[in-house]
Amino acid sequence: MNTARGFLVMGSLYLIIGILFGMYMGGKQDFTFAPLHAHINLLGFVLMTVFGILYRLFPAMDGNLLARLHFWLHQIGALVLLILLFLLFSGRVEESAMVPAAPIAELVVLLSVLAYAVNLFRNAR
Ligand code: HEM
Ligand code: HEM
Repeated sequence: MNTARGFLVMGSLYLIIGILFGMYMGGKQDFTFAPLHAHINLLGFVLMTVFGILYRLFPAMDGNLLARLHFWLHQIGALVLLILLFLLFSGRVEESAMVPAAPIAELVVLLSVLAYAVNLFRNAR
């Protein structure tokens, strides 16, 4: 699967989960999960869909090592971070237990974005 399609497919799955959380919050009038809902939709759907469209717009960026690094680091970092936020907001873990896993997951997302930026500077024309 090329990077563009990978991001678009994964983004659509995050949108489904994000909307389900939104519907749950509205139905229950319990907004504890609002930041999680926001980041499933934003880090998941919005960012991944923007990335997917950009890889389609600039095909020279797609399929190289930087694109693969970008895709997998984003998938791993975002998933771990969102699972940690779910555990936090559902009261399963204390805030203190988020360290060091959450900062590491954030760093992984940051590294993925660095791979994306280098690829963009080199290959988006
Ligand atoms: C049918 C779809 C959706 C439903 C039912 C829904 C529902 C909600 C609800 C109930 C809240 C909490 C409002 C409050 O705290 O008073 C919320 C907040 C939010 N939603 Fe959604 N939402 C949906 C789709 C989306 C999408 C597609 C995005 C982004 C692309 C999004 C981004 C946000 C953001 C940024 C917040 C604010 C979070 C915060 O205050 O921490 N939502 N949504
Ligand atoms: C690793 C990446 C990210 C981290 C660690 C992060 C972290 C945070 C934190 C700590 C907050 C404050 C939450 C609160 O007040 O309860 C926040 C809020 C917010 N973030 Fe992020 N964020 C990330 C990515 C993004 C992305 C990619 C977007 C948009 C595309 C985004 C949009 C927002 C918005 C709209 C809010 C405000 C929600 C509100 O008002 O409640 N974030 N983020």
